[in-house]
Amino acid sequence: MSTTHRIIAIDGPAASGKSSVARELARRLGFVYVNSGAMYRAITWHILERGIASDDAAAVEQLANRTALSCELRSHDWIILVQGADPTPFLWDDRVNDNVSRVSSVPRVREILVEHLRRAALTNDVVMEGRDIGSVVFPETPYKFYIDASPDIRARRRAAQGQHDAIAARDRADSSRRASPLIIAEDAHVIDSSNLTIDGVVGEIIGRLKLKGLTIAS
Ligand code: DC
Repeated sequence: MSTTHRIIAIDGPAASGKSSVARELARRLGFVYVNSGAMYRAITWHILERGIASDDAAAVEQLANRTALSCELRSHDWIILVQGADPTPFLWDDRVNDNVSRVSSVPRVREILVEHLRRAALTNDVVMEGRDIGSVVFPETPYKFYIDASPDIRARRRAAQGQHDAIAARDRADSSRRASPLIIAEDAHVIDSSNLTIDGVVGEIIGRLKLKGLTIAS
C-alpha cells in the first residue's frame, strides 16, 4: 500500500507498556495515536452484546460482516465506532479481556480491521500499537519496535491497574493463532521495558528514529 505518511509500528505482548509508550510518543511527535487492540476489543464487545459466543467462529464472522464500523479522529486519537456508537467505556471490561483473543483469531475479523487500520495512515502520521503492525499491517515501514517486559512485571502492571486479565493465556493464544500471530518482525528494534520508565522507552525510540533519519520537530 502506498502512503506518504509516516508510520511508527509498536508491537508487543499484553501489558508490556506499549500503550503508554505509544500514546506518549504520539504526543511528543504530534502524530495520531492508534490503539489497534482497542479495535479488536470494540468488535469483541459488540459480539458479546449480541449474545454471540466468541468461540463460534462462523457466527463471529457473520456478525462482523454485517456490522457497520467507522473510525474518526478525536483530538489525536483514532477512535472506532460500532454501528455509530462509541464503545470506549466498555473496552477494558473483564468479559472483553476474557474473549478478545478468540475473536481476534478469526481471519475475517482481522481482514476488516486491518483495512480500517491502514486507512488511518492515508491521512495521518501515526503511531500504531498492536500485535501485527510491523509484520502484517505495515510491513514496509522502516520504523518498527517490539516492546517486551518480563511476565512477572507485566502481571504486576495489570494488577496495579485493578484489572482481571489472564495475560499469560492471552499471550499464548495471540502468539499461537494461525492468522497474523504475535511475532517479532525481523527488522524490529526490541526494547525490554522491565526496568525502564515510560519516558526511558520513549527516549530510546526517539533516539532510534533520529538515527533512521526521521525528522522530529521537538
Ligand atoms: O493491546 P491489547 O492487549 O489491548 O489487545 C487486545 C487483544 O486484541 C489482544 O489480546 C489480541 C488482539 N490484537 C490483535 O490480535 N492484533 C492487534 N494488532 C492488536 C490486538
